[in-house]
Amino acid sequence: MSPANADRIIIALDVQTKEEAIALVGRLPDARTFKVGLELFTAEGPALFRPLKVLRKDIFLDLKLHDIPNTVSGAVRSALKHGVQMMTLHASGGRDMMARAAEAARAAAGEASGPKPLLLGVTVLTSLKGSDLGEIGQGEDVAAQVLRLAGLVKAAGLDGVVCSPREIEALRREFGRELVIVTPGIRPVWAAAQDQKRIMTPAEAVAAGADYLVIGRPITGAPSPNEAFLRIVEELDQSRP
Ligand code: C5P
Repeated sequence: MSPANADRIIIALDVQTKEEAIALVGRLPDARTFKVGLELFTAEGPALFRPLKVLRKDIFLDLKLHDIPNTVSGAVRSALKHGVQMMTLHASGGRDMMARAAEAARAAAGEASGPKPLLLGVTVLTSLKGSDLGEIGQGEDVAAQVLRLAGLVKAAGLDGVVCSPREIEALRREFGRELVIVTPGIRPVWAAAQDQKRIMTPAEAVAAGADYLVIGRPITGAPSPNEAFLRIVEELDQSRP
């Protein structure tokens, strides 16, 4: 089932301290899910999660795990003890690594008798070009590599993928609704593109088949982040076919 539009938007907490993160979350009372990435997690660690939970927020832990299956499944177990709802791992870590992580997530959900957290595979980082893939011994066709790894994500039992907006349609064609799709690179028409290159508006990305949108600066850098958030929700509501 598709999430409600307000629940589709994941706010990127791209700040360096717990204090800044909590202040930002406080300015977004209507947003539900917040993405904690490597920078903030490395600075503050899991101590950051408790205040987010007190504010009744969901956490998308974007650490892009990639290690031996035993280590990654242990890290997934540890993260889920903190009540994380979504997390990422590199699909290039291989089938067994992903399958063991999925197993850990199912077990954690069973123990907590809560909803199963979503585990998402990262296929090809958008910072890599075909020639970069060639250098590490992979085929240079980025789109083909994305589809190949997304197939492995599905076969290993993960819930979905993180991909750039331009990959959404091909993934939907190939896998239908069987994978959850999360995409950054989102810019409403009224926001500056900044360093994002191949962008889509929120409505375009959802029409293409995205389930969740990761949005940072258009919301977090707005004079009123909550108003910017609600404006995007309204645009999504109005664009619904
Ligand atoms: O501020 P902005 O909306 O560009 O933030 C997007 C978020 O998504 C950031 O946390 C960024 O690191 C992340 N991201 C991205 N592009 C990717 C992968 C992740 O913008 N290809």
